[in-house]
Amino acid sequence: MTSSAIAVSGLRKAFGDKTVLDGIDFDVPAGTVFSLLGPNGAGKTTTVNVLTTLMKPDGGTVRVAGHDIATETKAVRAAIGVTGQFAAVDELLTGQENLQLMVDLKRLGSGEGKRVVTELLERFDLVESARKRVSTYSGGMRRKLDLAMTLVGKPQIIFLDEPTTGLDPRSRRTMWAIVRELLADGVTIFLTTQYLEEADQLADRVAVLNQGRLVAQGTPGDLKRQVPGSHVRLRFASTVELDAAARVLTGSTRDDEDLTLRVPSDGATKSLRVLLDRLDEYSIDAEEFSVHTPDLDDVFLALTGHASTEVTAR
Ligand SMILES: Nc1ncnc2c1ncn2[C@@H]1O[C@H](COP(=O)(O)OP(=O)(O)O)[C@@H](O)[C@H]1O
Ligand SMILES: [Mg+2]
Repeated sequence: MTSSAIAVSGLRKAFGDKTVLDGIDFDVPAGTVFSLLGPNGAGKTTTVNVLTTLMKPDGGTVRVAGHDIATETKAVRAAIGVTGQFAAVDELLTGQENLQLMVDLKRLGSGEGKRVVTELLERFDLVESARKRVSTYSGGMRRKLDLAMTLVGKPQIIFLDEPTTGLDPRSRRTMWAIVRELLADGVTIFLTTQYLEEADQLADRVAVLNQGRLVAQGTPGDLKRQVPGSHVRLRFASTVELDAAARVLTGSTRDDEDLTLRVPSDGATKSLRVLLDRLDEYSIDAEEFSVHTPDLDDVFLALTGHASTEVTAR
């Protein structure tokens, strides 16, 4: 039995008459990565703000590290680290000075503080830029510094709000590697993201937030199983050929408007060969042939009726 690092029940939050969180429930076992997935404006940052005691909920209960966020705010704050959506580093200070500021805030002794700063600069590959002002840093370096600052004081639970939004692919991979290292150290991670691939890569469990509710929850694999399976899609030049193909490829579904046929398939080379041989046997030509394996994007579309990248109108 693992204990809950975060337990959320019936959480509600509205701004004026706009309900952002309409009763959400989830549980994050200690030492796992939980990813809250949703498009812009879904309420991810609001959730982080409530869970980290920066904002009061309108209803529901939340326990973080075993403490009630409403009555044991101090204990919650002592157990967590938060890296916000927008880097909270001081532009005018150097990387090292930013870290030192956190060390002072956390009241680490000067010997211990020095050791922690050195260790974090090394771990995040920021030694060379340590004495440069943050205003000269790239987006990826800022994010790394921000996360390094979050780690001062060794929090057991870390909240990362869209840690890789706007980062180039390389910096994104670096971030992912860091998250995996933290996990190996036993830290619990609550991560929000707009990127399905990120949740897929990192998360033990994923929850999809849409219009105030969690419309799905499970492992990335569980979610993928909720959408139609992998299939081969064939497009034909005419209805005549579509008819012929639909007759010989049993179990397929046709779309007459698109002149396409969808054939369930595991996508393995052997089954693809069998399928193509069958078409050949009946002298049927397909204009287009594609193999489709469902990913989390399909899950999002299936669950919410819109693409994950679509920005909701305000
Ligand atoms: N302090 C606030 N006052 C009023 N509305 C807010 C406030 N914070 C967020 N909102 C609104 O709540 C919704 C969810 O916002 P947010 O939690 O930032 O979404 P996300 O982080 O998923 O992009 C948005 O419609 C946003 O405009
Ligand atoms: Mg946000």
